[in-house]
Amino acid sequence: MSKSIEVNNLNVYYGDFLAVEGVNIDIQPRSVTAFIGPSGCGKSTFLRTLNRMHEVIPGARVEGEVLLDGKDLYGAGVDPVLVRRQVGMVFQRPNPFPTMSIRENVLAGVKLNNRRMSKSDADELVEKSLRGANLWNEVKDRLDRPGSGLSGGQQQRLCIARAIAVSPEVILMDEPCSALDPISTFAIEELISELKNDYTVVIVTHNMQQASRVSDKTAFFNIAGTGKPGKLIEYNDTATIFTTPSVQATEDYVSGRFG
Ligand SMILES: Nc1ncnc2c1ncn2[C@@H]1O[C@H](COP(=O)(O)OP(=O)(O)O)[C@@H](O)[C@H]1O
Ligand SMILES: [Mg+2]
Repeated sequence: MSKSIEVNNLNVYYGDFLAVEGVNIDIQPRSVTAFIGPSGCGKSTFLRTLNRMHEVIPGARVEGEVLLDGKDLYGAGVDPVLVRRQVGMVFQRPNPFPTMSIRENVLAGVKLNNRRMSKSDADELVEKSLRGANLWNEVKDRLDRPGSGLSGGQQQRLCIARAIAVSPEVILMDEPCSALDPISTFAIEELISELKNDYTVVIVTHNMQQASRVSDKTAFFNIAGTGKPGKLIEYNDTATIFTTPSVQATEDYVSGRFG
């Protein structure tokens, strides 16, 4: 488990609109990489290209390569459904399936992937995934209750359990704490630090403290103006980005002096 991601000369389009231009980045396995930058610079758009979620939008496409352990996700004959199984995603708003129980939510991706499983294997996977998401102790006595009955922070950890149940290599998270209170945020941050033992983790965050707390590497994206493409400006160890960045725009952004 846990694979590297190498992106070469990636351009990302919505129809004719070039939203993100010329990204080159190497993301390391068993690490947390944070994407930061102002709203609209293309962080979410770029993140979604890493598991081929971008192209579900009509007219959306990419140019360039995204290599997962050297294999191009956009290569001929690659099945995007299998890509999304290897590269899972957690969204800004926790989105458990509202009519499903906690247990069914954890297994939702596994079932979609058509894996036949005995009841005892399923029970084991539910426990392992919920433990992996630091949620087991809180929900073990109510696995058959609706996932929507949990608190926001618990729902987000349930979504992480659902993501890890399919044994991905990479977990993408788009502002996973932005809808959560500080205590739930702390729980997710702790979890992210544990997840990197097993997965390649990429997180978009607007919270500078969060990026510096949880990530090993940070990528700063920026945009020159409305209608212009977003670009990767600087990528380095998180400590370097926050203390001695090489580019003025990075320094302005991380110190809150942009705009
Ligand atoms: N579904 C979409 N269709 C067309 N343009 C979009 C779509 N989603 C985002 N964009 C545009 O792509 C650019 C980057 O947006 P986004 O990736 O959401 O930025 P960020 O996550 O950094 O705030 C913006 O100009 C935004 O308006
Ligand atoms: Mg976004």
